[in-house]
Amino acid sequence: MKILVLNGPNINMLGIREPGIYGKRSFADLLALLEQTAKEEALELTQFQSNHEGALVDQIQAARGVFDAIVINPAAYTHTSVAVLDALKAAAIPAVEVHISDVDAREPFRQISYAGMYCEKTIKGHGLEGYREAVLYLKEKYGS
Ligand code: DQA
Repeated sequence: MKILVLNGPNINMLGIREPGIYGKRSFADLLALLEQTAKEEALELTQFQSNHEGALVDQIQAARGVFDAIVINPAAYTHTSVAVLDALKAAAIPAVEVHISDVDAREPFRQISYAGMYCEKTIKGHGLEGYREAVLYLKEKYGS
């Protein structure tokens, strides 16, 4: 099974940015967690992070016919990007949305998720472990 893990703007700043909200674990720690999960679960995980909306749209489009599922943390684009939502709809690949923080317990503008209108599940507030949960959910549901 091939899963694409997409991360939006500022996720590369994990461990540095607002540790009280996002924790002290770094982006490198996230990549290590994904690598370990891939090994343990015998999955092919590809990670892509970008601070640019169009780059994320390009990756989602290119995932069609290549990946079996997507795990996406669109970060700030969660709350603004109809383009990311439309790309997910166009690619039509099963997708799970992840947020490191509990967006529901934060500012009202973080409670709107465009990507979430496509994703079949949202995991929020579980820190980096949320990515593993998303991968395990997709493996259980779509893995052969
Ligand atoms: C985030 C939550 C978003 O509101 C924020 O803009 C992010 C990260 C999260 O993982 O908790 O950059 O998606």
